[in-house]
Amino acid sequence: MDILVINGPNLNMLGIREPAIYGRETFADLQRYIRETADALQVGVTLYQSNHEGDLVDVIQDALGKYQGILINPGAYTHTSVAILDALKAVQLPTVEVHLSDISHREVFRQFSYVSLYAQKVIAGKGFAGYAEGLAWLKEHN
Ligand code: DQA
Repeated sequence: MDILVINGPNLNMLGIREPAIYGRETFADLQRYIRETADALQVGVTLYQSNHEGDLVDVIQDALGKYQGILINPGAYTHTSVAILDALKAVQLPTVEVHLSDISHREVFRQFSYVSLYAQKVIAGKGFAGYAEGLAWLKEHN
């Protein structure tokens, strides 16, 4: 099984950005964590990060026929992007939405997610462990 793991804008700034919310571990630490977890679960992963909405749409479209699931942290596009929602609906792959922080207990503008209108599972507020839970869920539902 091959899973596409997508991280959206500013997640490459982990370790630097708002450590009180996102912690001090870096994006490189997160990527290592995801790879190690995938190895332990015996699933293949491809890691992709972009700060650009259209690039995220492109990579979701390209996932069709290549991956059996998508794990996505859309960053701030979670709350704004109909285009990312539409791309996910177009390819119809099993999809888990993950957030490091608990968006349901933050600013009001973070409490709505377009991506949740398609994602079969949403995991928030569990830090890096949310990515592991998401990979395990996708494996289980393959
Ligand atoms: C985030 C939450 C979003 O509201 C925010 O814009 C992010 C990160 C999270 O992982 O908690 O960039 O998706």
